[in-house]
Amino acid sequence: MARLQIDAVSKRFGATDAVRAVSLDIADGEFMVLLGPSGCGKSTLLRLIAGLETPTSGRVLLDGRDITDAAPQQRDLAMVFQSYALYPHLTVERNIAFPLRARRLPRARIAERVAEVAAALELTPLLRRRPAALSGGQRQRVALARAMVRDPGAFLMDEPLSNLDAKLRSATRAELIALHRRLGATFLYVTHDQVEAMTMATRIALFEDGALAQVGPPEELYDRPRSTFVAGFLGAPPMNLLSATVTERDGRLRVVAEGLNAALGIAAAHGDREVTVGVRPERLRVAAGAGALRGRVTMVENLGSEELLHVDVGGQQICARVARPAEVRAGDAVELDTAPADLHLFDRTTGMRLSWQEPQHLSPSENTALSAV
Ligand SMILES: Nc1ncnc2c1ncn2[C@@H]1O[C@H](COP(=O)(O)OP(=O)(O)OP(=O)(O)O)[C@@H](O)[C@H]1O
Ligand SMILES: [Mg+2]
Repeated sequence: MARLQIDAVSKRFGATDAVRAVSLDIADGEFMVLLGPSGCGKSTLLRLIAGLETPTSGRVLLDGRDITDAAPQQRDLAMVFQSYALYPHLTVERNIAFPLRARRLPRARIAERVAEVAAALELTPLLRRRPAALSGGQRQRVALARAMVRDPGAFLMDEPLSNLDAKLRSATRAELIALHRRLGATFLYVTHDQVEAMTMATRIALFEDGALAQVGPPEELYDRPRSTFVAGFLGAPPMNLLSATVTERDGRLRVVAEGLNAALGIAAAHGDREVTVGVRPERLRVAAGAGALRGRVTMVENLGSEELLHVDVGGQQICARVARPAEVRAGDAVELDTAPADLHLFDRTTGMRLSWQEPQHLSPSENTALSAV
């Protein structure tokens, strides 16, 4: 059992607010990924939970017990760092056994436990080697084994895959997912790689400048981003964001800008509203005419399976991800279309998501809603 509660935790280094009043409730057995750009406070939060830093304010609870002031070794947590931090002069076996030897467990018990963990991570043939004689992926598994050997309630991992090449990274990703399933332990995993976050997380906590921008399952952050920051962070290429105005045309709401005129599929509104409209590149398609967006192709990128069309729409640059071949070239005029449900609206000033009634739920009395969520 390991439920982790982070209760209004802040950390200040001099003039830097590294973590700003973060609250997060991580259930037993979750795979929670802390995601965000460089310098947003991910490692600091992990170190606060591990006890390697002391919060300026707030509390950390493990299974309801306040561990804010407990020493790192008194917390039922294991930390895996990006750098592995293996002892170069010790064999793999000794490296894995280290936490148990430090606790002076009986020798036979240590040997048994090391053998178990080594077998689980397919390290048995490597037990006599030293870290220098291992590949990056093998070293990473040794670091994991050393964390697992104590059978902690929760694993804290800080970018453990960032030293691996692309192929090994994807293989290790799959291994970690399987390991999480097998152990049923709580994983708290820091990365700035959105693919890792999308594929591994049961929930993502996305950080922006020391604070939480959004917490939820990966699909929720991708499909219903709470702000333009979240919308622009997830997705490669990210969501297109255009300055536009929501306005009424013939009793219906439309979102318009130069080169853009898209129906929102609902009726009436109270005056105009300045918005940022978002649409994912994969939700745009080339239209034969009467598309919601009109522009000029500036570049076509061939991805092999698909093409990325870069299009200038009234001076704003967008990107469409379409099936190959798209039959358009740089310099061509092009029309693109999308469904009303694929449009995301954000307040132009605050960047926060706006919701509006979906067409199927429309009724005459409630069809004017365009409110912040
Ligand atoms: N010991 C420290 N002393 C002073 N400032 C620090 C210290 N540790 C971190 N910071 C600052 O706190 C902020 C958050 O740093 P942190 O390492 O948590 O970011 P991160 O999200 O892990 O970034 P990255 O993805 O680059 O690892 C940064 O501005 C950083 O410079
Ligand atoms: Mg970091």
